[in-house]
Amino acid sequence: MSLDINNIDNLLQPEFLANPCPVFKHLQTNDAVHWNPQLNAWMVSRYDDVKTLLQDTRVSAASPFGYIFKRPLTEEEQVAVSIIRPYVEQSLLNMDPPGQSRQRTILGAAFTPRRLEQMRVRVQQFVNELVDEIQPRGQVELMNQFAFPLLFKVIFALLGIPSEAHTDAKRLFNEASSLIIKVNSTPYPKSEHLLRFADNLLETEDLIRPFVEERSRQPQNDVISLMVEAEQRGELSEKEIFVLCSQLVFAAHETTASAICTGMLSLLQNPDQLELMKTKPEILAIAVEEIMRYSVPGQMRPRIAREDIEIRGTTIRKGQRVFAMLAAANFDEEHFACPHALNVERPKKDQIMTFGHGIHYCLGGALARMELQVIFPTLFQRLPGLKLASSTVQWRPNFLLRGLVELPLEFEPQVVSLDEIESNVA
Ligand code: HEM
Repeated sequence: MSLDINNIDNLLQPEFLANPCPVFKHLQTNDAVHWNPQLNAWMVSRYDDVKTLLQDTRVSAASPFGYIFKRPLTEEEQVAVSIIRPYVEQSLLNMDPPGQSRQRTILGAAFTPRRLEQMRVRVQQFVNELVDEIQPRGQVELMNQFAFPLLFKVIFALLGIPSEAHTDAKRLFNEASSLIIKVNSTPYPKSEHLLRFADNLLETEDLIRPFVEERSRQPQNDVISLMVEAEQRGELSEKEIFVLCSQLVFAAHETTASAICTGMLSLLQNPDQLELMKTKPEILAIAVEEIMRYSVPGQMRPRIAREDIEIRGTTIRKGQRVFAMLAAANFDEEHFACPHALNVERPKKDQIMTFGHGIHYCLGGALARMELQVIFPTLFQRLPGLKLASSTVQWRPNFLLRGLVELPLEFEPQVVSLDEIESNVA
């Protein structure tokens, strides 16, 4: 499969989804600040430009919802839009300071090194439980049978959503993540999608509200309690608590699931690097950093120019959209030697762009790294002979969040011996 460079603006072409690097290289060499008519936006691909753009106060991360609708909305649809709007516009990811910094300070307390160490113990426990279930089977579809179930457990534990609510919460969040794409990526959203999305959000609020009320009477060591305390100090509204719960679930699980599966694929396709990782436990943190450089889930992040901005002699006009290509930056030869090679011993030189840069830098970056540091060694130790079950993989038709549809794997099943069963019975 070879990439059609004349069709470079079509970021949904299968060749780009499977391997975006030729496009990155072409843009970085020939057109580092590129106008993409299909996106109606600029694409900035060099490491230095991406970094500078993400810390430029002349760009905004604000993402107004609904202004793109190209048809008049019925009264019922307008009500639905008013329910959905805060979820798109009032979370820190899509806001500028001072709102973004206010929310970020409150949530920051959830990601302290101490809390992270407490979470490490729980993550290891969740991973062990899932592997116990998987071990006898000899096969696993890593995305749906491991990554998603694990990451829901982690984020629900962090938030403080108890296990009896997990089934409903998963159903609602799964549905919401498919609906948000349907209503927010087209000027002509279907009425049924708008209405169902609004109902979904109200149902999710009903699910979370009792835990919010409970924490206001009796705070716990969880993120809902942190937010309730902020609400009591007058720093957060009740609506923002619901919005931020959803934001954290989405930010945490789709990205990290992609990282687990794409990272696993990269390791299995580079057996020499996998061997190094297995035999040199001391390189684990560097290896995970390299896996995150190489397998970037969030390929690019949008911003809007608040005023005219010049980059490499090209002017981004006020009001125009510009994408910072995080993944391209990670493959910039000026910053990463032999960027197309996975090198789990890569000497640390420049910060990877996988988690962004500047005021919106990923709040959960340390958590995601810790999860991967637990997951990869545990899977390789406890599932011997782990390998791809299929010679082909399918990429999701999404250029913002790169990821596999699924990742079927095989390994030697761990059959529990009769002695072990008897000793357990005794
Ligand atoms: C491999 C996993 C992850 C990747 C690749 C990732 C990537 C990113 C990126 C690129 C941004 C910056 C967006 C921008 O500048 O527009 C971001 C922001 C954010 N991430 Fe992550 N993320 C991951 C995991 C997580 C996890 C586990 C959490 C929480 C539990 C989380 C929470 C957030 C939040 C709250 C923000 C918004 C920060 C702000 O706007 O101030 N992320 N993430």
